[in-house]
Amino acid sequence: AAQAASTNPPPQVAQCAGCHQANGMGNPAAGFPALAGQPAGYLEQQLYAFKHGSRQNHMMKSFAGGLNDASRKAVAAYFSQLPVVAPATLPAAPKGDLGATLATKGAGAGTPRAIPACDSCHGAGGLGRPPEFPRLAGQPEQYLANQLTAWQKGSRNETNLHLMRDVAVNLSPKQIKAVAAYFAAL
Ligand code: HEM
Ligand code: HEM
Repeated sequence: AAQAASTNPPPQVAQCAGCHQANGMGNPAAGFPALAGQPAGYLEQQLYAFKHGSRQNHMMKSFAGGLNDASRKAVAAYFSQLPVVAPATLPAAPKGDLGATLATKGAGAGTPRAIPACDSCHGAGGLGRPPEFPRLAGQPEQYLANQLTAWQKGSRNETNLHLMRDVAVNLSPKQIKAVAAYFAAL
């Protein structure tokens, strides 16, 4: 973040803009996640995971497959330094406080299936904490819910000590819906 913003996007970025937008803010209606402002190391790791199959998505497999170590690093660094732009419209804040409670307090403390507060890793307001914890605030609701079910199904397997998988496997469908709606509306 201390480095000067790069004004010349690496050439591969043109391909990504069709879905993630030139400003890196994604497409909430289509469920394409924002990449802007995410930790560079996180983005790089996801691109590696799509290419090598530990994170499965057919669209991203082909785009990530075209990147080598150097271009993966370059596109990750480029999107990481783009500013997060507040969307013109946010989805309505969800009713009830199940999502907010999970995010800030967690659930079931002391039980084998306890859920730690999401914010304890993802930061206050789900704004993310570099180097490894991505921002959740403002990501498309369906995208967030899909990631949580992907860990449950095993189609997303992060290498990062399984921190997130261990959280996701204990979430009920109702909790997933509530917490995805909560973060999408921030
Ligand atoms: C997810 C980068 C092109 C569709 C992602 C993620 C990254 C990324 C880093 C994971 C985001 C996260 O974990 O928060 C890129 C780059 C591209 C590119 C660098 C160009 C080289 C595209 C294109 C499409 C696309 C052209 C649409 C055809 C998606 C979708 C996801 C995604 C649907 C979510 C996948 C899932 O549910 O796991 N992309 N992307 N991307 N991207 Fe791309
Ligand atoms: C990634 C949600 C708690 C560590 C993610 C992602 C989601 C998510 C949706 C994927 C973001 C993206 O694709 O852009 C949640 C929710 C939580 C929670 C709803 C609370 C119920 C935690 C906790 C930790 C954690 C407590 C730390 C122990 C991580 C890490 C990643 C991640 C390391 C990146 C995984 C990777 O590299 O693929 N989280 N999270 N999360 N989360 Fe959480």
